[in-house]
Amino acid sequence: MSPAEKPTPKQSIKAVRGTRDLLPDQTPLWNHVESTARAIFSRYGFGEIRTPIFEDTTLFSRSVGEETDIVSKEMFTWEDRARAASEKAQSLTLRPESTAGVVRAYIEHKLGETGQLQKLYYIGPQFRRERPQRGRYRQFWQIGAEVIGPQSSGAESPIRDAEVLEMLSSLLDELGIRDWRLDLNSVGNADDRARYNAALREALAPVKHLMCPDNQRRADTNPLRVLDSKDEADQEIINTLPKIADFLSPESRTHFEQVLAALDASGVNYNINPRLVRGLDYYTRTTFEFTVTTGLGTQNALLGGGRYDGLSEMLGGPKAPGIGFAIGEDRLILTLQAQAEADAAAEAGAPSSPAVSSPVRVGQAWSPKKLDAYIAPIGEAQNPAALTLARDLRRAGLTIEVGDGRFKLGKSFDTADKLARHIILLGEDEVATHTATLKTFATGEQVKANREELTDMLKGVKP
Ligand code: HAM
Repeated sequence: MSPAEKPTPKQSIKAVRGTRDLLPDQTPLWNHVESTARAIFSRYGFGEIRTPIFEDTTLFSRSVGEETDIVSKEMFTWEDRARAASEKAQSLTLRPESTAGVVRAYIEHKLGETGQLQKLYYIGPQFRRERPQRGRYRQFWQIGAEVIGPQSSGAESPIRDAEVLEMLSSLLDELGIRDWRLDLNSVGNADDRARYNAALREALAPVKHLMCPDNQRRADTNPLRVLDSKDEADQEIINTLPKIADFLSPESRTHFEQVLAALDASGVNYNINPRLVRGLDYYTRTTFEFTVTTGLGTQNALLGGGRYDGLSEMLGGPKAPGIGFAIGEDRLILTLQAQAEADAAAEAGAPSSPAVSSPVRVGQAWSPKKLDAYIAPIGEAQNPAALTLARDLRRAGLTIEVGDGRFKLGKSFDTADKLARHIILLGEDEVATHTATLKTFATGEQVKANREELTDMLKGVKP
């Protein structure tokens, strides 16, 4: 073959910017977090809902809001190809959040007609085209929950807000997350918001020409969104703007006070933050965010949520007040890892450090476990018998890996020592006599056992 005919090496394909692979040494921690969340949600009466990963684009523009960063800049949107040229042309979007999809499903399946409060949770990927950095990805995972129902189900009651917040504090404590901070605000009902928006518009009118183009536009279209702006130069003006707290109706104020009283009673610490309006348009009354100081750098919002009493109607559904939250699972994991590392460092430096207990306990739960046994067939002829033995032991509930009779014995021992607590040697003699040689790495003990005894020995049951 001449050099010209040589095939050029193919360029390797990498995961798309802002997306990540989670490898088997990482997924045990993710599974631990998810199973802890599922267990807690079920204690509070939540059931799981799974909605599609893509939805009609209008769902998000109507609920999250046209002027939000999410809808105006960050969505992955495309025209449905087969239909693009027809009357049925439809714009589709990878979900940037799940509340809109859950409320769409609530309306579509007429869940309100049960008359019952719906307590729904979800765990799954979301997509936003943000600039990737630590704790900020284009595909990220959320663990979220929504409490929604007709007014008669009590969905509007402040006890629902307090219950959700108390559940979150219990979840973070149970996972061993330390030093979290809960910021809380009320953004009022639709009328309060309208009066506040008018006041913002008025306050912005004489100064908006000094602001960035995005804020100049928002000052007219949706002034509340000016408060989310991260533009450094505009912060001075933003700090002088009126506060929502001064525009709350007596009903909204009472609702908020009742949420605070219930939180005080259940011992959940919070800070009232009058600037917390959150970056999505559907919020009414209670809004909240949990932040942490370790592990996340500037992306320190671990989770956020709030009430959305008018969302169902915005989507063409019946009146159905609701409240919910979404935890950034990627950020939760980063925090657990950073806090466990900080504890390990503290423990190494100061053995009597008082702050080492809970994440170390979490650490044990997610460190990968060794297999019960590695089966090493000796000679290729023993491979079928090894596979059959592996099947029987796995059916008995044991965790087993099988080697290959072509491997040298030394290599099998090395691999087995890395992966498993025992090695099972299966030579010609063992296969013929229906026995196996079992070596326990921890003690160095080696015994020959018949197949019936093997399961008990591996399970640590003494004959
Ligand atoms: P959100 O504040 O947009 O609220 O997102 C919730 C959480 O998702 C954030 O606090 C953060 O931890 C995580 N998150 C957001 N964007 C990213 C990203 N690019 N990379 C990694 N993590 C991210 C919502 O999504 C609402 N649906 C929450 C809600 C539910 N409100 C009521 N019910």
